[in-house]
Amino acid sequence: IAALADLLNSRIRDVPDYPKPGVLFKDIAPLLADAEAFGALTRALAERAKELGATKVVGLEARGFVLAAPAAFAAGLGFVPIRKKGKLPGEVFQKSYDLEYGSATLEVQCDAFEPGEPVLVVDDVLATGGTIGASLDLVQQAGARLVGVVVLMELGFLDGRERLTPHLGGAPLDTLVTV
Ligand code: PRP
Ligand code: MG
Repeated sequence: IAALADLLNSRIRDVPDYPKPGVLFKDIAPLLADAEAFGALTRALAERAKELGATKVVGLEARGFVLAAPAAFAAGLGFVPIRKKGKLPGEVFQKSYDLEYGSATLEVQCDAFEPGEPVLVVDDVLATGGTIGASLDLVQQAGARLVGVVVLMELGFLDGRERLTPHLGGAPLDTLVTV
């Protein structure tokens, strides 16, 4: 809803020329530090997880953890991390994706989900879609069933949404704030 979007948006700080000249960084630290905004965000994510019938909430390292874990708790659900390469013990599935320069690899533990388990994926920002796209592939590879994706902030001037469509398998993609 519009009131929630306005509240969240008002707590996101623009930082010019970070991490490099010409880039306008969207800093969520003020939102996380504000009990009202962080609480409203957490409740909205938890509500969506329950609405979609998820039994686990998946968070993407690192900033996605900060949103997904409290949402899972608030919804009474489990939390599963998707981590950057080399951080998870045991058998993992891996997926690489392109960055502006080079590539990165994400991992999920092979036994993270029950077969066909309904999951919601949460992250803070949808930019190019590389991070979430790779994560959705991992969720599928690990045998879970994607019921939805929620992202705090969509950078609408990039093509992230279009790039994600083939990875969604028809599941809804919700973004709370579009900038
Ligand atoms: C940022 C952000 C998203 C991703 C969005 O994460 O938190 O996860 O980039 O970009 P994309 O849509 O182009 O993939 P980053 O990899 O910078 O690391 P962090 O979450 O660990 O800070
Ligand atoms: Mg991230």
